Amino acid sequence: MKKIIKNGTIVTASDTYQGEILIENGKITQIGANLNAAGAEVIDAKGCFVFPGGIDPHTHLDMPFGGTVTKDDFESGTIAAAFGGSTTIIDFCLTNKGEPLKKAIQTWHEKSKEKAVIDYGFHLMISEINEDVLNELPQVIDEEGITSFKVFMAYKNVFQADDETLFRTLVTAKEHGALVMVHAENGDVIDYLTKKALAEGNTTPIYHALTRPPELEGEATGRAANFAGLAGSQLYVVHVSCAEAVKQIAEARSKGFDVWGETCPQYLVLDRSYLEKPNFEGAKYVWSPPLREKWNQDVLWNALKSGQLQTLGSDQCSFDFNGQKDLGRDDFTKIPNGGPIIEDRLSILFSEGVKKGRISLNQFVDITSTRIAKLFGLFPKKGSIAVGADADIVIFNPNEERVISAETHHMAVDYNAFEGMKVTGEPVSVLVRGEYVVRDKQFVGKPGSGQYLKRAKYNLTTQEPENKTLSI
Ligand code: URP
Ligand code: ZN
Ligand code: ZN
Ligand code: ZN
Repeated sequence: MKKIIKNGTIVTASDTYQGEILIENGKITQIGANLNAAGAEVIDAKGCFVFPGGIDPHTHLDMPFGGTVTKDDFESGTIAAAFGGSTTIIDFCLTNKGEPLKKAIQTWHEKSKEKAVIDYGFHLMISEINEDVLNELPQVIDEEGITSFKVFMAYKNVFQADDETLFRTLVTAKEHGALVMVHAENGDVIDYLTKKALAEGNTTPIYHALTRPPELEGEATGRAANFAGLAGSQLYVVHVSCAEAVKQIAEARSKGFDVWGETCPQYLVLDRSYLEKPNFEGAKYVWSPPLREKWNQDVLWNALKSGQLQTLGSDQCSFDFNGQKDLGRDDFTKIPNGGPIIEDRLSILFSEGVKKGRISLNQFVDITSTRIAKLFGLFPKKGSIAVGADADIVIFNPNEERVISAETHHMAVDYNAFEGMKVTGEPVSVLVRGEYVVRDKQFVGKPGSGQYLKRAKYNLTTQEPENKTLSI
């Protein structure tokens, strides 16, 4: 039905203003003052910001990994995302070598179809380039609307692709208008360092970080960025964790390469010392790339502020502490990598970023929504509050205080990596295409109501950054 949002402060990537929003048939049909609201349900957003729905560009729901499967599926994961103010996710569809890409995509459709409560798209993992893959990719782009590919430079003998595959993926992506995403760590050297650590009897979680030093993230980031420059292609570096990688992205951008960078909440607020928690608790903080020394956090915040990094993904990849992270009690290489974050992405960035004066309110919207929509072919349908856009809207109370805890979160896991952290600012109500999914902090959505999104091709000319990139 028709709805009108009144009394709120509308915030976009470029503007902050008072206004009313009229919603009809799932779309924003008018924005202005004193709109004719006859027959419309009134949503009173007094004291709140009205943001375009968050877009999480980096999730792993119901994904087999490390000998187990991520705990949150498309139902619990998207419910938690909605509570956190995200109205769209883009999840990584894994592929198996030698199998048709279509088969992998079908598997991901089956995982998500009856479950998602918000809209969703897929990125496609590329692990080999051969005639079959080259023949299939144009259909993947045109028919499935999958316009971003993921290449892993780490996880040797599991997901890792070689340099030829990465380079040829970049060349192919350039030709067909797709964005190539990389997990940038040098998997070969990590493989050597982890084997050496285990041989020396070093088995505890901290060795996860010690065997994946920042130099290896910087090296892989620089290598991928140079390949992108050479191919004249477009590159998006996921989960940037450290100064070394930021430097490589900034250098590539200063040369005019079309290179983008994402960071994640965990790298902005947690540090390497968490891996040393006693009683194997360090396993809760095992991500790849690993948490870094604390000083890197300032570098990441400054990079978001200056536009050297442009987006925030969650890298949601949740495993229970009991029963799943446990797999690596005697061997840190067997701890499933990843954590539960889909729910707290916006709150952490708002509380630590906007409230503490590290980024502006408009940057917050750009980093969590608008820029992501533009990069991944969803703009202006998603990522904006504008006439004609989908009415994906978050009513956000900037003064609401909350303590993050596994006791109250909506993810399906038995711990929260940010347990006890106080955040200010919280979504109150969340609408997807004009329908409430969360209303006054209660879930009112329906599994299966989320729609699969076919995305447009990557287009450099629509990527005008809001923030100038500083050259270093
Ligand atoms: O530790 C992580 N990041 N787990 C998820 C898989 C990946 O590398 O993104
Ligand atoms: Zn309705
Ligand atoms: Zn990764
Ligand atoms: Zn990931």
